[in-house]
Amino acid sequence: MRKKNALIVGIANKSSISAGIAAELHTHGYNILPTYINEKSLPFVKEVTDEYGVEKLFPFVVGDDEQLQGLVDHFTENGIRIDVVVHGIAFASEIKKELHEVSWKSFKQSTRISAFSLVEITRKLLEADVLNPGASILTLSYRGSQVAVEGYNMMGPVKSILESLVRGLASELGGKGIRVNAVSPGPVMTRAASGIKSFVDLINSAQKASPLDRTATLEEIGKISYEIIVNPSINGSVYLVDCGESVSFSIKC
Ligand SMILES: NC(=O)c1ccc[n+]([C@@H]2O[C@H](COP(=O)([O-])OP(=O)(O)OC[C@H]3O[C@@H](n4cnc5c(N)ncnc54)[C@H](O)[C@@H]3O)[C@@H](O)[C@H]2O)c1
Repeated sequence: MRKKNALIVGIANKSSISAGIAAELHTHGYNILPTYINEKSLPFVKEVTDEYGVEKLFPFVVGDDEQLQGLVDHFTENGIRIDVVVHGIAFASEIKKELHEVSWKSFKQSTRISAFSLVEITRKLLEADVLNPGASILTLSYRGSQVAVEGYNMMGPVKSILESLVRGLASELGGKGIRVNAVSPGPVMTRAASGIKSFVDLINSAQKASPLDRTATLEEIGKISYEIIVNPSINGSVYLVDCGESVSFSIKC
């Protein structure tokens, strides 16, 4: 039987949420096809993907159309069909600024990298006809899309856009048998997260707010992501994986 292929965009290192999802996909027999952002990051990405026997990694930075075309050409030329796409990327150059201080340039760039790239990647794969019917696309959101989270600043609105894109793409691509969903974990200490002001406080608050007194592990996020990826009835959804943090309200004393 043909091994299924998962394109993973967003592994930076072992702490990346995409690494947790890739681990679960690998456990379930998927070939992992990872991207990396630049040569400096490559050894850290390989540290993750070597464990999965990955030989080829694809350079990809949002906005470099040649790289995206090169990736898709490789799939076409080698008869590689894609069953799963994990989109786990985000960037905001002015994340430390308050929302009302953010420039349009930074907001526009962040929207492209963190949200619209989901459309750009999906379109390129569709145009090349390398997505298998039944393919599943998963992106990563955060609760800051729904409520104003201190320190999350411009990323809140950008995640709202991302979640809206999930619904729009899910609705358009359902006819092709392709599903699009998002997982929305509570805070996890990763490289991207370390750029957020007072992120340690954010994790501590999330742990305190959770009725379980904790946040989700990478392994747990990987497992639920896998379930969403393979369940043929789930489409256009955003799944919270936050140990119940968002259903509680604690009174500060
Ligand atoms: N860490 C958290 O607390 C948390 C919580 C909820 C959602 N998320 C989301 O999870 C996703 C993954 O982030 P993470 O926390 O695992 O951090 P991470 O730093 O491990 O991953 C972020 C990835 O984005 C990539 N990236 C950034 N700019 C890029 C660009 N211009 N082109 C291509 N790739 C680019 C980086 O190379 C990196 O691989 C993000 O969408 C993030 O918003 C994170």
